[in-house]
Amino acid sequence: MPNTYYVNTAIDYTNAPPHLGHAYEKIAADAIARYHRLRGDQVFFLTGVDEHGVKIEKVAAAEGITPQEFVARISPQFISTWEKLGISYDRFIRTTDADHEAAVAKAFAQLVDAGHIHKATYDGLYCEGCEEFKNERDLVNGKCPQHDTPPKPFKEENYVFKISTFKERIRQHIEANPDFIQPETRRNEILNLMETFPDVSVSRQKVKWGIPVPGDEGQVIYVWIDALLNYLTGIGWGSDDALFQRFWPANLQLVGKDITKFHCIIWPAILLGLGVELPKQVYGHGWVNIGDQKMSKSLGNSVEPNELADTYGADALRYYLLREITFGKDGSYTFDAFKLRVNADLANNLGNALNRTLGILEKNFEGAVPADLPELTVELARKVATTTTAVEGHMARLELQEALEVTWSLIDAVNKYIDSQAPWALAKAGDMEKLGGVLYGVLETLRCATILVSPFIPTLAGKLWEQIGVPKALADQRWSDLTWGGLATGTVTKKLGPVYPRIEDELAAGKKK
Ligand code: MSP
Repeated sequence: MPNTYYVNTAIDYTNAPPHLGHAYEKIAADAIARYHRLRGDQVFFLTGVDEHGVKIEKVAAAEGITPQEFVARISPQFISTWEKLGISYDRFIRTTDADHEAAVAKAFAQLVDAGHIHKATYDGLYCEGCEEFKNERDLVNGKCPQHDTPPKPFKEENYVFKISTFKERIRQHIEANPDFIQPETRRNEILNLMETFPDVSVSRQKVKWGIPVPGDEGQVIYVWIDALLNYLTGIGWGSDDALFQRFWPANLQLVGKDITKFHCIIWPAILLGLGVELPKQVYGHGWVNIGDQKMSKSLGNSVEPNELADTYGADALRYYLLREITFGKDGSYTFDAFKLRVNADLANNLGNALNRTLGILEKNFEGAVPADLPELTVELARKVATTTTAVEGHMARLELQEALEVTWSLIDAVNKYIDSQAPWALAKAGDMEKLGGVLYGVLETLRCATILVSPFIPTLAGKLWEQIGVPKALADQRWSDLTWGGLATGTVTKKLGPVYPRIEDELAAGKKK
């Protein structure tokens, strides 16, 4: 039986179309999901949108339309953007999906029945941007630091979830399971927050756009309770028990650093209250900034992932974000850095290695792969093996940047090999046997490199694969195909030109952000 691997992302608010930060998280999760498929794991990749809550109620009202109409316009934009970016999810959940709504009501009732949720008057300060109560100490000059707006006083009789019942168990779980919250810095943040984390109000009287509290239709369930439960409902909790049993507990819940606390305090409390096992890991990734500024509506510096993907290809964006940003830390996007990185690594390094090799192969061997000469290629074979092992280690620790870095050192090595072996000179001298061995070494290395890069840049990998000519589809390749010698002598290559054209200045000038 193959291992199962269940990965999910945060579900995005649908108060506005997707931006680069949303895209970054989905791209990272997608590369991880694709990597696990390559390993032969049975993967379930869940992503989606968070459609309820006061935030969406308000933007819809401002346009004079219903929240349903509003989300009907925005949610499809997430779907089409993820399609463009090659996000290979197994389910795209919307919190207005009927199975989700029914299962959330069921979970809420179960928590009430178990005595974890009770009615009480809740008095506090609420930030609608965060959809969260704030303590005075969370504020900077009386404002929410993330949204730069003062939270609103809030007093209502509603339902309160007793997080306090579970705090000690959660703390012990975090301490006993170092992998539960990663990276390490997030783990320490959560342990610090834990002591003072209050019980939370989990229903709203004044909000209408949400899932009604079962048996008390005058209130709706707090949007975070509704949203967090998507990780269960999205794989069949309450509707498809076999699916749920197969994939829960989640292997990886990938979310931004700003919402790690919801996932590491409220979420485990919900699960413990329902008697459901905790996920294996919550990973709080860093943020993508624009240059050195936070992406924000007020600064008007939001970057549109669709436009970048349309102009330069989804893989260029995928590669840049995962290669440039140390996973777990904040990173930055600028057009200049994007152009530099993509030109150097995709157009020059990767594209040229294949292009120039296929050119010589076509001229001297009619495009057919010659025989290996192990004494000539032993070093390359060793490098493929060490790179494969290194990538494996990096991926196990979610070091996506390092996985790419080490893979590109293999591609660097093959370019240096071409330069030092000078196949053009061998051709001129008529040393066809040696020329064949050199070309075999390069192509076999590129075959393996293509498999290694395929989770990150699937479209470009497909183009490389087509040119290398291996009959078995790239999608059917497995980790075990990364053994030297997989490229059969006689394989007919197909020279189709550069896999990634350089971004030229004239083109860039019009598009620069
Ligand atoms: N709806 C909630 C999540 C509920 S999960 C049960 C939410 N939505 S969000 O649209 O504000 O953010 C969705 C995800 O995008 C979060 O993980 C958030 O951290 C991430 N990002 C939003 N802006 C980001 C950047 N600038 N950079 C990287 N990720 C960022 O929170």
